[in-house]
Amino acid sequence: MPDEIKSAAPPPEGEPKPTADRPATPGGMKATPGGSVQSETKPAQVSDAVNEGRRIFETTACINCHSISGSVADGRFGPDLTHLMSRDTIASGAAPNNSENLKMWIQDPDSIKPGSLMPAMKLNDHDLDTLTAYLETLR
Ligand code: HEC
Repeated sequence: MPDEIKSAAPPPEGEPKPTADRPATPGGMKATPGGSVQSETKPAQVSDAVNEGRRIFETTACINCHSISGSVADGRFGPDLTHLMSRDTIASGAAPNNSENLKMWIQDPDSIKPGSLMPAMKLNDHDLDTLTAYLETLR
């Protein structure tokens, strides 16, 4: 996949006028800001907690340091989390990879691995639970 150039010039202003050979498509392929089209068509088996956890991840500093392919997260400072749950341990073997340790890690990495380069994120319990539910879908 080619790298997207984020600072590309803005698209030309105005809608192209419909013409005989290119008619306007009613309700067509126009992108909706916020990706609402995508969430409307998402299968119901993705739980609300996971969706919310994903939103929290993507709006928190996590994405500055971590990448998850297929999401907006493209940070390079920390490990890639795309297949997080395929690993038996986190933080290079510092602790078994389970939900308790993931939560403890996110709240205070130093409690698992002193001197870790990841800052304590100090989320509230609700955000921590949903965020962990999302991380646990990364296989
Ligand atoms: C300032 C950069 C930074 C931020 C912000 C950050 N992390 Fe990290 N994260 C790291 C680094 C660096 C490591 C590796 C630490 C180590 O192994 O010592 C790491 C490790 C992890 C791990 C363990 C991954 C593995 O495979 O071992 C998880 C899970 C994780 N981070 C989740 C998060 C989440 C969730 C957030 C947001 C709430 C977040 N991180 C925010 C830098 C960051």
